[in-house]
Amino acid sequence: MGKIQIVRREQPKTKPDPEKLGFGQYFTDHMLVMDYSAETGWREPEIVPYGPISLDPSAMVLHYGQEVFEGMKAYTLEDGRIALFRPDMNMKRMNQSCERLSIPPFDPETVLEGIVELVSLDRDWIPDGDDTSLYIRPFIIATEPCLGVRAAKEYKLIVILSPVGSYYPEGIHPVSIYVEDQFVRAVRGGTGAAKTSGNYAAGIKAQETAKEQGFSQVLWLDGVEKKYIEEVGSMNVFFKIGGEVVTPALSGSILAGITRDSVITMLRSWGLTVTERKISVEELFEAARKGLLEEAFGTGTAAVISPIGTMKWEQEQITIAGGNTGEYAKKLYDTITGIQKGLLEDRFGWMKEIQE
Ligand code: COI
Repeated sequence: MGKIQIVRREQPKTKPDPEKLGFGQYFTDHMLVMDYSAETGWREPEIVPYGPISLDPSAMVLHYGQEVFEGMKAYTLEDGRIALFRPDMNMKRMNQSCERLSIPPFDPETVLEGIVELVSLDRDWIPDGDDTSLYIRPFIIATEPCLGVRAAKEYKLIVILSPVGSYYPEGIHPVSIYVEDQFVRAVRGGTGAAKTSGNYAAGIKAQETAKEQGFSQVLWLDGVEKKYIEEVGSMNVFFKIGGEVVTPALSGSILAGITRDSVITMLRSWGLTVTERKISVEELFEAARKGLLEEAFGTGTAAVISPIGTMKWEQEQITIAGGNTGEYAKKLYDTITGIQKGLLEDRFGWMKEIQE
């Protein structure tokens, strides 16, 4: 550590009330910035005071959405050490997203070292209350001023940090879901498997409509037949049906979630059968009608586990696990957050400790 040039903020900002963090509303004192140009390639990262950036109004990201991002988290462990959860996976996935968006790949070790240095510098911002963490948002934008539709020749990689509480105000309490049968989030061959802003922009209309009708989120179906389940809101989705856990297979339009991967590993280690396959909404509702749908939950970095209490499809509404948090949703949440906070043994080697 210590190689990266740091320009420190002169006056540290006032920290938010740790009881009222919400999600993504507060930002720390510093940010990491790394520039790219076709002539120089990616330059060395720098840490500078957090603040607005200057962007030409013709910057290509503003017009054609050439952007990728990641979401990852840092924690203060019980004994005061700091650790990140599976950060190598985020670096790898971000480069895969870059590939899809024709953004030049970066050196994952350089960026991860920069993130470690940034988190270490702003360590006083890591909250330590229940259900809190420091959310890390790396992203890359096309900054070249040009209105031609092509890959840009200039980019900016930025990493910002945000102390967060629960993603959903409901926390680990079950949410109500509406099966979206009009709009789709992504199609195979599109950008659904990349973490890029356009996928999220495409989902907002359905989310707003669901909210107006009293639902927390939507269940996304495939973009071709509108028959097979893909994701829930901005999360991967799991179902426990007749003792077996089923999650949609990564078909090309689904994001390969890091929490998804962790959940599969953990459930298998507990002896459960986890199958990655196509699952139709008809099959799911039929299982519910027969009393076989035992649990449903979303998985993601932001919320970790989000149980689904009710689900509405056309005119039919089902209640799952009696509208309560299911046994495995609870156990997964407690175990994953327990590992993240250093309360449970890190038996899969997921935590990367930050050396001082
Ligand atoms: C996540 O579950 O981590 C997400 O993708 C949500 C994020 C876009 C806020």
